[in-house]
Amino acid sequence: MRDKIRVGVLGATGAVGQRFVELLADHPYFELSALAASDASAGRRYADACRWMLSADMPPQVIDMVVCETAPGIDCDLVFSALPGTPAGPVEEAFAGAGYGVFSNASAHRRDPDVPLLIPEVNPGHLSLVATQRDTRGWERGFIVTNPNCSAVVLTMALAPIHAAFGVRSVVVNTMQGLSGAGYPGVPSLDSLDNVIPFIGGEEDKLSFEPRRMLGKVKEGSVEPADFAISAHCNRVPAREGHLETVSVSLVEQVTPEQLIEAWRSWHPLPQQLNLHSAPQPPIVVRPEPDRPQTRLDRDAGRGMAVSIGRVRPCEVFDIKFLALGHNTIRGAAGASVLNAELMLAQGMINV
Ligand SMILES: NC(=O)c1ccc[n+]([C@@H]2O[C@H](COP(=O)([O-])OP(=O)(O)OC[C@H]3O[C@@H](n4cnc5c(N)ncnc54)[C@H](OP(=O)(O)O)[C@@H]3O)[C@@H](O)[C@H]2O)c1
Repeated sequence: MRDKIRVGVLGATGAVGQRFVELLADHPYFELSALAASDASAGRRYADACRWMLSADMPPQVIDMVVCETAPGIDCDLVFSALPGTPAGPVEEAFAGAGYGVFSNASAHRRDPDVPLLIPEVNPGHLSLVATQRDTRGWERGFIVTNPNCSAVVLTMALAPIHAAFGVRSVVVNTMQGLSGAGYPGVPSLDSLDNVIPFIGGEEDKLSFEPRRMLGKVKEGSVEPADFAISAHCNRVPAREGHLETVSVSLVEQVTPEQLIEAWRSWHPLPQQLNLHSAPQPPIVVRPEPDRPQTRLDRDAGRGMAVSIGRVRPCEVFDIKFLALGHNTIRGAAGASVLNAELMLAQGMINV
């Protein structure tokens, strides 16, 4: 058995950082060797610096680890970044420039033309941008690979097989996004309880853009986005975890709900073929019940990595409408990033 690769988590004390710690603590290919956070946490025991919010206990091996400063030099070969957007931009570049592989959750580099915005099931070919990135930035070993926004991953997973089979012409999506999507402590309870907040800063722009980029094609070192429009309405609802989305689509080909269901159920993309550790089998769970998926009941499907789809029916305005649900801090954040790293490792793109 090969040695495990030593990995660090940037932003390790936050909502997404804690998920990374949970997912990486007993990972078969990666060994957690560094935890970094802000200056306020650096130098403290992880258990003291972090207000642990997950229902499973803090993994015993991280309790006494000392949180380090967020700067190159930390003891690992790859980093998973759960930094807020503003510090993420320069910090992730500094790590990549110093030779670290960077798997980022932050939005800072998602639109850089030479940075892959990746869902391993959807656009593994976009990893070819890593070579472009190294050429243009002069990085020999380091790189940045990003995963999408937490509501964009749900929509993109749902659209990928039906776009491939029938061609998507246009989409309207309405989200009901859990509170943990705003980090910790996030939305104040007096704003969120007994309420729906019909605005999440920057989210509709990300949800309109990112799926089209991931469903696009790499041409001459950058991505030509898929040629259809997405209209997004984003709402914060008082669920703890999970983003539920209602989706109406028009397709190039006229199809029945049963044909879409067959396309989702028969989808067996690369991470599932490679049987990667974090790849859910199947990637999409189609629920037959009239009132599923529901946020609380279905967000943990496939250990939080599967997207659940249901209520597939004809649409009076578009062609077909349905519901899609995903776990925002697992499939929408930490789990997505870990799967990106597993794919690059399986493809021989990580040499340490
Ligand atoms: N929550 C989600 O569902 C979700 C989904 C997808 C993507 N994301 C993205 O993931 C990132 C993290 O989100 P989150 O919800 O985990 O945020 P969070 O709970 O606010 O955690 C932020 C983390 O970053 C650290 N940090 C803050 N400022 C820093 C700085 N200047 N230098 C170094 N470390 C710093 C914090 O350390 P201290 O504890 O020391 O302050 C903490 O560990 C964001 O970019 C977010 O957009 C979140």
